[in-house]
Amino acid sequence: MSGFQVTTLGQFIIERQSEIPGVKGEFSRLLRDIGIAAKIISREVNKAGLAEILGETGNENVQGEDVKKLDIIANTLMIDCLSKGGECCAVASEEDEHIIPITTPQAKDAKYVVMMDPLDGSSNIDVNVSIGTIFSIFERVTPLGSTPTEADFFQPGNKCLAAGYMIYGTSTMLVYTTGNGVNGFTLDPSIGEFCLSHPNIVTPKTGKIYSVNEGNKADFPAGLNTYIDWCQQIDKDTNRPYSSRYIGSMVADVHRNLLKGGIFIYPMTTKKPKGKLRLLYECNPMAFIIEQAGGRATNGYGKRILDLVPTELHERSPILMGSEEMVLQLEGMLERETQAQ
Ligand code: AHG
Ligand code: MN
Ligand code: MN
Repeated sequence: MSGFQVTTLGQFIIERQSEIPGVKGEFSRLLRDIGIAAKIISREVNKAGLAEILGETGNENVQGEDVKKLDIIANTLMIDCLSKGGECCAVASEEDEHIIPITTPQAKDAKYVVMMDPLDGSSNIDVNVSIGTIFSIFERVTPLGSTPTEADFFQPGNKCLAAGYMIYGTSTMLVYTTGNGVNGFTLDPSIGEFCLSHPNIVTPKTGKIYSVNEGNKADFPAGLNTYIDWCQQIDKDTNRPYSSRYIGSMVADVHRNLLKGGIFIYPMTTKKPKGKLRLLYECNPMAFIIEQAGGRATNGYGKRILDLVPTELHERSPILMGSEEMVLQLEGMLERETQAQ
């Protein structure tokens, strides 16, 4: 590839700024700050095996989950980059019980808040399997200059201005949307820049991959088990059986399905009636990206993920997302099961 043909993330952000109504340079600078954090986290993730930063911290997070050292490193790096940038007035993170107001002088009049899952797929860190970072940006609803509150974070996903993820895989990628389609950038380590590699990602209307933790099958709604059985039946007209693919890092599972076509499912179960994934940090940003790529994301029971109004920072939601036809089919099976009860 000739150097002259490369579009860097920084160039792209500036070029596309005018497409987002009402936003100016501050918003572009905030996206740029996240791009910087992405490079630093990528560097830390890549050398994790050498730097004694694998393993547990010995603590649990607010949700009772084991915290890895890299969870904390990624969390701190993101907050540091957002604090230095000065465009973000507060952060809500999966790793912190409360919101974190940014108190640096340069953030005094900042008008955006960021929600994030700094490290997604923690259980895969120590075994060298793809992990990610998820973020979303909203405009604050409380007055400029005042202390940010939880109200700034209890906005439905349909108010989101931008959402994206980094995936630390065979290469590091940053994929994001500002509501005008989805674009993907690959980090070229030789120049230290994210370069546009996947312009205007459109997800296939249907696919052959279903991604769900089938270890929980005994606790699944009957309609989901009916769907899984259907995916596994032999039928040459519909290319079945489908392939079951589940990495256990949502970012990696959703990224693969986004490009190839497929459905990602984290349902309600008898043990976890609200599912596992967190609405603010995981469901909303990924749902925004999937919809912007032409896919569908719902809670499986008639609600678009992006229309759910959060009432708690760490609330969870069941989620189905991916290729539209696959999600619609599973929704139909779940609905028929509900009606039969
Ligand atoms: P996190 O590492 O941020 O806690 O997220 C883990 C999530 C998600 O990435 C993944 O899809 C899911 O948990 C896996 O859960 P199960 O092991 O229950 O399938
Ligand atoms: Mn996660
Ligand atoms: Mn996480």
